[in-house]
Amino acid sequence: MTLRQQLQNRNISEHGDRQITVECVHKAIPYGNACRELIHTADALAATPFAWSLKTLICYDIFHATEKILAGSDDPVPHFISILQDNAELLKAAAFRTEAYTQMPSQAFETLEQETGSHYGNLFNKFDEEHYFDEPLRLLRTRLERNRFDFSFMRGKRALDAGCGAGRYTFALRSLGFEEVVGLDCSIEGIAHAQQTADSCTMDGVSFTQSSVLDIPFADASFDFVFSNGVLHHTRDMQKGIEELLRVLKPGGKGFLYLIESPGGIFWDCIETLRAVMRDVPYESARRQFALMGVPAHRCFYILDHIMVPINIRSRPEQVEQMLQEAGAVSVRRLTRGTDFDRIERIHRQMPFCDVKYGVGENRYFFEKP
Ligand SMILES: C[S@@+](CC[C@H](N)C(=O)[O-])C[C@H]1O[C@@H](n2cnc3c(N)ncnc32)[C@H](O)[C@@H]1O
Repeated sequence: MTLRQQLQNRNISEHGDRQITVECVHKAIPYGNACRELIHTADALAATPFAWSLKTLICYDIFHATEKILAGSDDPVPHFISILQDNAELLKAAAFRTEAYTQMPSQAFETLEQETGSHYGNLFNKFDEEHYFDEPLRLLRTRLERNRFDFSFMRGKRALDAGCGAGRYTFALRSLGFEEVVGLDCSIEGIAHAQQTADSCTMDGVSFTQSSVLDIPFADASFDFVFSNGVLHHTRDMQKGIEELLRVLKPGGKGFLYLIESPGGIFWDCIETLRAVMRDVPYESARRQFALMGVPAHRCFYILDHIMVPINIRSRPEQVEQMLQEAGAVSVRRLTRGTDFDRIERIHRQMPFCDVKYGVGENRYFFEKP
């Protein structure tokens, strides 16, 4: 069976994969039972605004506390289990109150792209300047430098940022040296925000267009560089997306692709467990709760990004390599370095318990078109 067939066989409905599979609860993993118990406890709550707030609250607490134990040097497993158990207890204690509130209507979307686009468009729209302009530039420069990307390649070249969100990396690519950068995304809100930013700043050579990465509205061989950072794993057909990237790339052109990874250790098992906990919480309710708690916009994005998006498919490195090769890419190279904050960099530095914490680390790839 080809990878495309395997992906198509996943139970992805018109509204994404909300029948979420949490792999760790089916495996003999020491924290699997605690994850299962938490999900069952969350499932037992009635669908009310109070329950949604509570779930969002524990989502924040579990994500934040897990991040802390991943940054430490102790064995993370016993700590992770107690975080899950404490929060399951909290949900149980509050369960009796949830019947008292009426249900708030949740937002209906006509297509998966609209839902995904609205999710991200509403998360990206309140970033401050540091997190919109400065941080992405720093992160991208470090990722490219530490993996020996030739920056002189950028001079006079045209790049595509496929799935640009609100454009933070589109501006970073232009600042790093590309002559022209086009940002493309299905998000109406994301593109409107990006366009507004472009109109109000002095940087030239940046433009935006609203479209799907599965049907890129540019002719074959239109770009010298294609960049897709954390996008195709949220679509129905990753292989088609990769084929589109290769189609619009010129012969001799280069590409950068980031796709989320499997196996992914506690980092991804935590996110998958929280996807199951949060699957009936309306987007607006979660965002409002985070805002009430004073969580800054970039943190809100970082936490809710994968937890609330309809499709979130993790790939093994060999699957990504197979997809790239099937689409005609050559010189496919997995990046082994990242920023200090990246999982792959922590693995590179052989920090303690890396396997159990992070699995194989991010799938970031360079590739070329022959
Ligand atoms: C995690 S965000 C990444 C955004 C940007 N690359 C960045 O790193 O800031 C994923 C983006 O993919 C976009 N996206 C998802 N499916 C898409 C599709 N079929 N076509 C175009 N964009 C899509 C979403 O709207 C969202 O902006």
